[in-house]
Amino acid sequence: MSDPLWKKGDGPVDTDPEIMAFLAGRDVILDRELLPFDIQATGAHAAGLARIGLLTQEELEATRTSLRELQEAFEDGGFVLDHRFEDGHSAIEAWLVDELGETGRKIHTGRSRNDQVAVAMRLYLRDRLDRLEAVCARIAERCLERARKEAQVPMPGHTHLQRAMPSSLGLWWAGHAEAFLDDMELASLVRDWLNASPLGTASGFGVNLPLDRDEVAQELGFPRLVVNPQYAQNSRGKVELRALDALAAATGDLRRVAWDLSLYASDEFGYLSLPDRYCTGSSIMPNKRNPDTVELLRALHAEVVGARGELDTLLGLPSGYHRDLQGAKGPVLRAFASGLEALGLLPGLLDGVEWNTDRLRNSISAELYATDRANELVAQGRAFRDAYRQAAAEAGGLEGRSPEESLEARSSPGGSGNLLLDRLEARLHRDR
Ligand code: ARG
Repeated sequence: MSDPLWKKGDGPVDTDPEIMAFLAGRDVILDRELLPFDIQATGAHAAGLARIGLLTQEELEATRTSLRELQEAFEDGGFVLDHRFEDGHSAIEAWLVDELGETGRKIHTGRSRNDQVAVAMRLYLRDRLDRLEAVCARIAERCLERARKEAQVPMPGHTHLQRAMPSSLGLWWAGHAEAFLDDMELASLVRDWLNASPLGTASGFGVNLPLDRDEVAQELGFPRLVVNPQYAQNSRGKVELRALDALAAATGDLRRVAWDLSLYASDEFGYLSLPDRYCTGSSIMPNKRNPDTVELLRALHAEVVGARGELDTLLGLPSGYHRDLQGAKGPVLRAFASGLEALGLLPGLLDGVEWNTDRLRNSISAELYATDRANELVAQGRAFRDAYRQAAAEAGGLEGRSPEESLEARSSPGGSGNLLLDRLEARLHRDR
């Protein structure tokens, strides 16, 4: 391993490989995801040091160039972040020292790994929340397209898993669309909420140097600072938790839509079929065709919620930095990697859903019109409770109705005859 950043004298540091391995854990591997953000923040930090005269212009240029080279080497595999380093932060400094000597030895002026990791994490979360917002928008868009196309296609609506009233594919699709519109907006809200720079708070107390924090923040695209150095540390994990909340909102809705699909694809329902590429067979039962992809999408939410629980549990700490906080990285990185991968599969899956429209229509039996009938009597002047009883008594007289007529008459805003898709589409296309 390279010399640790905290090596003090010229002699060797008394380290034990087993203990060092435990301290670093998988940390340096996790830092592979954060390294590009750490490099970006390091460049902005160097520019800040130059503005207050702690790096010359030439030193800044050299640092920036060397950081660009590191980024390129990292991308093309020429530089591998591994256990030679204690963490990604050490690797960046080691690279700069190797490349630039004395200049590289200045980069840690006025910063600590504590604000370094905090800023890298916020940049990472901003990026992943942007992706989350984008994938939710794509899902909502697909659902809305199909809601338009299949607005008037009848299906039975269920409560308690029992057929309840005539409904439509339009209503089903638009329902899922609206869920993902909410998730899209939540991702964007959380992104804006955590879009603040902790860089320049160092170990949690500020430093006796006139750091140019505002400009550094601006270069990194943060509209504001995390002002207080103690809070810069105390908010670590807290912002990750909210980001996982936003992710869990989306994977929770993914779970629901996956549930519907697996249920409707079953022989018992027979409402739809899934494209072959999302299904698998059984190793023993030649007759089987299983909706495994849909089931794994449904299960994914457990991983996100588990990660959230792990993180929340970890945060029972007093103020300031504690090494415990290193444990905040794993659950967040894992959950976003799996969550975004799963959500990314949903648009294609939704495109491939084929409905069995005959089966849907034929599943709407006469008694499902009872609520329609009661409301018709209300329109003729009956009190609802009396109309309800009369409709119940007339159960036999509901034959001969058509689902299309029932849907068309469902004129309450949002109902099958008045889906207000324009309003949902407007949310999708609002400038964000
Ligand atoms: N890997 C550490 C973390 O994620 C980096 C910060 C180390 N800071 C320290 N004071 N040891 O928390």
